[in-house]
Amino acid sequence: MPGRVLITRAIPEPGPSLVRGAADRVDANTEDRSLTADGLKLAVAGQDAVLCLLTDQIDASVLEAAEGCKIFANMAVGYNNIDVAEATRRGILVTNTPGVLTECTADLTWALILGVARRVAEGDVEMRAGRFPGWGPLYMLGGDVAGTTLGLIGPGRIAAAVARRATGFGMTVLYHGRRPGAELDGLGARSVPLDELLKTSDFVSLHVPLSAETRHLIDAQALSQMKPTSYLINTSRGPVVDEAALVVALRTGQIAGAGLDVYEDEPKMATGLADCPNTVLLPHLGSATIATRAAMSRIAGENLVAVLQGRRPPNLVNPELWPDSSRARPHSL
Ligand code: DGY
Repeated sequence: MPGRVLITRAIPEPGPSLVRGAADRVDANTEDRSLTADGLKLAVAGQDAVLCLLTDQIDASVLEAAEGCKIFANMAVGYNNIDVAEATRRGILVTNTPGVLTECTADLTWALILGVARRVAEGDVEMRAGRFPGWGPLYMLGGDVAGTTLGLIGPGRIAAAVARRATGFGMTVLYHGRRPGAELDGLGARSVPLDELLKTSDFVSLHVPLSAETRHLIDAQALSQMKPTSYLINTSRGPVVDEAALVVALRTGQIAGAGLDVYEDEPKMATGLADCPNTVLLPHLGSATIATRAAMSRIAGENLVAVLQGRRPPNLVNPELWPDSSRARPHSL
């Protein structure tokens, strides 16, 4: 049933070409910026399929405006921007792009671990400002990385990729999650309760999806359990951390520092965070490599095209709408 497709923002190839090759008509926002909330509602009306991004808030009102749409194919592994429960209630398929951004997100997690502990960004600023006074025994001392303890919150693919890199640094790896992490176990990581992880880790790195359960998982109380020499790293989703509480912890020396790629209210960040020198602050770059973004675009396109062609999309996040065992979709498209 080739149909009408919306692509909500300019994205790299090959997703757009895949979609164009399979749809009757493609409406694409060719600007590198999100549609407004009202613009999005207008744009989804009458579409059979939508390729969207984590910057699009696909809430109940957008889903209502998209009456008759079969799929929202999100070009992201996270899908907290989509009201999946409401989409499922309406029989709308939702897909994501898992797997392809695992390694580059793990790389960036390591950039933050090394960057914040060894004061890389601060040092760069000192050099550019001409303030390097010459080598000094007390100058810009940071924290050790090799041989320390890494605590991973979340037992998934990205956590395992971060742990794999940690073996080269001779680190003890702990993890906490609701389910066992088979790959983490295989790497010698130890599953521990959250309290123990917070109290004993030198680096606490977050790798959980955003949900009601994980919102503000790292709050003032959790931060108070961390060691004053420890660092918080977040490449997952901003609202997992209570950012105002983090600013207090950073200012008062409750923890040594933080390396952040994501923020509670992107693109803004909490008042005071930018003034904390013991931070490395990146603008949500976890998946920002040329090859990874192309792979995400391809997978989002493939998911969408599968539905246009009456096939089960490979990365369905509401599989109850199309059980793996059923060859045809239970409800007609
Ligand atoms: C994702 O895919 O969820 C990432 O946050 C994008 O960078």
